Amino acid sequence: MSKLLDDMNALAAEISVCRDCMLHLTRDKSVPGEGNVRTKILFIGEGPGANENATGRPFVGQAGAFLNQLLAIAQVKRQQVFITNVVKCRPPSNRDPLPDELSACAKYLNRQIELINPLVIVTLGRFSMARYFPLQRISSIHGQGHWVNDRLIIPMFHPAAALHQPSLRSAIEHDFSLIPGYLEQAKERFEPKPEPETKPAEIPAEKTDESDKGPESGEAAQLSLF
Ligand code: URA
Repeated sequence: MSKLLDDMNALAAEISVCRDCMLHLTRDKSVPGEGNVRTKILFIGEGPGANENATGRPFVGQAGAFLNQLLAIAQVKRQQVFITNVVKCRPPSNRDPLPDELSACAKYLNRQIELINPLVIVTLGRFSMARYFPLQRISSIHGQGHWVNDRLIIPMFHPAAALHQPSLRSAIEHDFSLIPGYLEQAKERFEPKPEPETKPAEIPAEKTDESDKGPESGEAAQLSLF
């Protein structure tokens, strides 16, 4: 197992015994998050609901089923990305997380972000959006990527909210369709496209030995999305 995965598992173990806020009193399972620790995209939701509290996995209820559809629109597979929440234990009756719960749990999310070091962060709902844009309204900035400390942050409506409001549903579907373009934009900022290959006619005849040949076409550098 890699050091990165070891560190992420150690963090999940720490979260499972955390008592830094009242939510530990009512949790069945903590929900640290799951997915590919080497992803370039991190999704941050709000907090576990009943299904997540029972299974220890994020976004496995109705909102999770809709998130899976949205990920398909974004052309990403769930197992290729990492999904977590701002609070790792269920707020009773799915109430909003309280300020002291958010601040007690922030250290875990901060460490996850440090470990994964994603290029793109998609926030789901207003609580994860508020980490980056505390004074903005989600209705004004949803779907708009902004660079914050060298990461492209894209605020999205929460899938649960969008499930119940048809106008939000089409907006969030459209916003997710923008993700592949944002990912390309983010990668180009740090991994500029290679210069176009020199045309063979421009290579002087005496310099065409093996070591001067460019990559075979099959070896052309491919930028991976994840
Ligand atoms: N499930 C989660 O894990 N997070 C949410 O924000 C909602 C449902």
